[in-house]
Amino acid sequence: MIGAFEHLARPLLSALDPEDAHRLTVNMLKFAPLPRAGKDDRRLAVRAFGLNFPNPVGMAAGFDKNAEVPDALLSLGFGFVEVGTITPRPQSGNPRPRVFRLDADEAVINRLGFNSQGAERVLQRLARRARKGGIVGINIGANKNSSDRVGDYVRLIERFAPVASYLTINVSSPNTPGLRDLQQASVLGDMLARVIDARERAAVPTPVLLKIAPDLSLNELDDIVGVARARRVDGMIIGNTTVTRPQSLRETERAKEAGGLSGRPLFSLSTRMLAESYVRVEDVFPLVGAGGIDSGTAALAKIRAGATLVELYSALVFRGLGLVAEIKAALLAAIEGERQNGFKTLIGADAAAMTAEPWPQ
Ligand SMILES: Cc1cc2nc3c(=O)[nH]c(=O)nc-3n(C[C@H](O)[C@H](O)[C@H](O)COP(=O)(O)O)c2cc1C
Repeated sequence: MIGAFEHLARPLLSALDPEDAHRLTVNMLKFAPLPRAGKDDRRLAVRAFGLNFPNPVGMAAGFDKNAEVPDALLSLGFGFVEVGTITPRPQSGNPRPRVFRLDADEAVINRLGFNSQGAERVLQRLARRARKGGIVGINIGANKNSSDRVGDYVRLIERFAPVASYLTINVSSPNTPGLRDLQQASVLGDMLARVIDARERAAVPTPVLLKIAPDLSLNELDDIVGVARARRVDGMIIGNTTVTRPQSLRETERAKEAGGLSGRPLFSLSTRMLAESYVRVEDVFPLVGAGGIDSGTAALAKIRAGATLVELYSALVFRGLGLVAEIKAALLAAIEGERQNGFKTLIGADAAAMTAEPWPQ
């Protein structure tokens, strides 16, 4: 049924301004009766950060910024949903237009700038659904005009730990000036110490993940992984959107828009950074791969580059929500092909070889 709806709705959605199309989709998920995806094959199950994921395919942060539809997304077949980014106080983000589709590239550029209804409103929503189960991660960020950004993260950890399956520290959005500077090892070390301390003080041991940009140098990545290991984060997400513009882009005019690029052209860079992270993390914690996943093959490549879980967003704009079932079917076929009972032996199988390849352009 979601397929039929999308079949009718897709021409309309693609004719609308991307942000209006997104709002319409969220409302549809909120108000339309949705079919439940069937129960996942047990071989798709993954255990990570102490959580049992029914399948490894998650909705990336940014689609459901205010936790309006996590349960609808779970029932459509995602193994987990990451809501947010949520900021402590409400803020409207940058002026519109601020989301751009690059149709010929199957890419998106956004400079939303953490438009968020703020912690209190979102907390109420999450508290109402807390007993429903399903894995709902909460991605948190600092307010643009905050005088104490590290303090913002600490307070959000304290507030959201009781209702989150996991928490993601987002220091990698390119659309809040100066935010990515929090990735500098000296600042990050201090911040993660305070964040982990806040988590320890919370009543529940909610896992804390760190989401990084794909635009780091390998020296910076060395430092970040070193700090993440030393501070004992539970995992990393690699990664956020890129401020680079790959040479392959066809929509050269649209590509000039400021903001973070996501979707297919992000795949090579983000998968390389994932492999580079995997060889540095040495299995101390699991990784989540995001960036340009638009097929089962792409999802499998992320797993082979080192991802235990994957997340996607942009490809859903071009391929529709049916993509989730397609990816899960392809992953299942891969396990069957290898006569595996799960993904364990596939995770990171290509990482070392990938790090020896020429840097993706
Ligand atoms: C419109 C849009 C909004 C996004 N907002 C957020 C956000 O609020 N927080 C975040 O951590 N990532 C955000 N992202 C990044 C995605 O979570 C993801 O890391 C990135 O888009 C790469 O995956 P993809 O190529 O499958 O889209 C956003 C992406 C898009 C396209």
